[in-house]
Amino acid sequence: MSIFDVQPVNRFAGSSAAIRRPKEIAHFSYDDDHVFRLDDSSLRYYYPPSMGADLSKGYESFKKLDDTADDHLDSLLKTILESEKETGSKCEADFITWRGMMTKIMATPFDNFNGFEMNATFFQGTIFIEENHEYKLAQWQMQKSQPPRRGGPSQDLMSFWGYKFETISLLPDTWDATSREYIESREDEIVNNHAQYCSVVRTGIGKSRLVIGGEVDAVWDKKPENKDEPINWVELKTSEEIYSDRDMQKFERKLLKFWIQSFLLGVPKIIVGFRNRNGILQRLEELETRDIPINVKKRGMRSWDGNLCINFTASFLEWLKQTIQSDGVWRIRRKEKSPVIEVFKLEDSGYGSILSPEFVQWRNQF
Ligand code: A3P
Ligand code: MG
Ligand code: MG
Repeated sequence: MSIFDVQPVNRFAGSSAAIRRPKEIAHFSYDDDHVFRLDDSSLRYYYPPSMGADLSKGYESFKKLDDTADDHLDSLLKTILESEKETGSKCEADFITWRGMMTKIMATPFDNFNGFEMNATFFQGTIFIEENHEYKLAQWQMQKSQPPRRGGPSQDLMSFWGYKFETISLLPDTWDATSREYIESREDEIVNNHAQYCSVVRTGIGKSRLVIGGEVDAVWDKKPENKDEPINWVELKTSEEIYSDRDMQKFERKLLKFWIQSFLLGVPKIIVGFRNRNGILQRLEELETRDIPINVKKRGMRSWDGNLCINFTASFLEWLKQTIQSDGVWRIRRKEKSPVIEVFKLEDSGYGSILSPEFVQWRNQF
């Protein structure tokens, strides 16, 4: 077993390691039935919702995605494979993974409570990382078994509020190409979280080159024709209205995840819909992703430090590159509240279910 020390985190303080602006190299969609499509059909456009909207409306008819199946890296690898076919060149990277895995890693220095478990393998110079699905399911079970605050909303209802907020903030096309009727009746749309647009980006943290896939909620205007121009992505979030210093502290902790999630894919703007305790939308706040760490520092509560997260990630990824240098299935694990991350081998050879047979076959003949 190899051990990476998370603590003391202060050794990662200071100005940040080199980072590369994430650039989209490919994308895919899941349609309204969650069927994979190699296109941008589920791309959505942002248009502000009406204040006073009831985010609980339509909860009974929520078309909720069953995400209990383990999808591994399948959609991401399919998209990379197709992009390699199209460009004729191999997608070189030190790491290929979902954005969610990178978010967990990057938040580690300031998340002393949650653990994580991932599987990794090494193939043609790249470390591929997926979530350990059993671990995720077990965590969900635990969350579900916790009773809601007395008289408070259930976890399921709160989760619905997030999707409802998306539904009333998005358009299927640009504003000028969408009918007034649609815009005015968005509050009556059936909430369906099957559809997703996922961006696959190339980025860099320290000396590591990464290819990351993740969902983006919407675009502010539209995707530029020129592929070198940055895309004005928008991330939508809901949060409970801030009434006290304690609420402010809680919100700052949430901002850590908001920031990391958007930073990794190069999403420049986050729209927060503040709601009251009954799920009524009160106001919107537009946050520039870039400014979040600076503003958190300015407020002086010192709950987290963005540069430290970047430096931690740069060091950890360097260490992973030294540690995972052969095929087989590796486990990357941080136990809850643990001061270390452990890496050990579960299977001696092969790629487990991390890599699809199609992807391995394609690469072997490439
Ligand atoms: P909020 O973030 O506004 O609560 P994302 O913000 O990543 O685009 O996710 C959209 C919504 O999915 C979230 O909206 C939340 O409602 C729901 N969601 C995301 N992760 C979740 C989780 N781990 N458990 C429950 N709901 C989740
Ligand atoms: Mg989303
Ligand atoms: Mg969102």
